[in-house]
Amino acid sequence: MQILDTPEAMRSLSESWRREGRLIGFVPTMGALHEGHLSLVRMAREECDKLFASIFVNPLQFEARDDLERYERPFDRDSRLLRETGCDALFAPSVEAMYGAPASGEGRLVQTFVEVKEFGEILEGAVRPGHFRGVATIVAKLFNIGVPHRAYFGEKDYQQLKVIEQMVRDLFFDVEIVPGPTVREKDGLALSSRNARLSPGERKAAAVLFRALRKGATLVESGERDAARLVEAMRAVCETQPLVEVQYVAVVDARTLEPLTELVGGRPARALIAASVGGIHLIDNITL
Ligand code: PAJ
Repeated sequence: MQILDTPEAMRSLSESWRREGRLIGFVPTMGALHEGHLSLVRMAREECDKLFASIFVNPLQFEARDDLERYERPFDRDSRLLRETGCDALFAPSVEAMYGAPASGEGRLVQTFVEVKEFGEILEGAVRPGHFRGVATIVAKLFNIGVPHRAYFGEKDYQQLKVIEQMVRDLFFDVEIVPGPTVREKDGLALSSRNARLSPGERKAAAVLFRALRKGATLVESGERDAARLVEAMRAVCETQPLVEVQYVAVVDARTLEPLTELVGGRPARALIAASVGGIHLIDNITL
């Protein structure tokens, strides 16, 4: 596996693959890899001729400096896992390489940002202002550098997936966005690099997020169609855990993320949940 740390090197590798007529897959990550990330890499490995991943802890999408600084960066372990899972290349640039450094003498820091208006402002975007602007901006940069044919995103970050799909449509990126299912722990907790920061008690309590979502899905299966009642029932499940502070529970149109009042046939719905557990921000979602 080649490791590249400049946009120029990554682009020229991708160009050489394209000249050979290869189908190029891409899995963007912030590192601290777990089975959730690796499941996307495996999917991409099966579907594409050449595959690159990126590891870049993107400062633009963190609103809290503390969260950014505490983000784990086990680079050697990550690159070994990617190599073992069959990645052909790893793009791991510095912050300076991606956002420009005043010291480079090339003028100002980056001045151009990508903002996906409505998708970026609701739900997770309301809790974390500027977050999706950071995500869309970095993903646009990565697409322009690596020019993949297909890029893989986890449904775990459902709103992020919708933000990227919208950006791709709006800006005519020639890339197919492929969603991958959420990988979970045995008790249902969605894998996340942040889970490692939970105390044993918080870790146990955190499983209530998925239990709440499952409750919603079960109610829908047994005929419940009223979104407010579903939200209330899911909240009630979360409230059984005092360590879990719910930020939102929402029942939305799975394509537009618009809040629903009622579930109707032919309009796919999704339940989304976010909570703070011991100060750690956790999210999850389920199809209804
Ligand atoms: P990161 O949190 O590292 O996640 C990278 C990819 O892995 C995302 O597509 C995410 O949805 C997926 N993923 C994370 N946990 C998962 C799980 N339990 N099951 C399935 N997929 C999972 O998301 C980001 O990084 C960044 O915002 C990024 C897109 C790289 C832009 O900086």
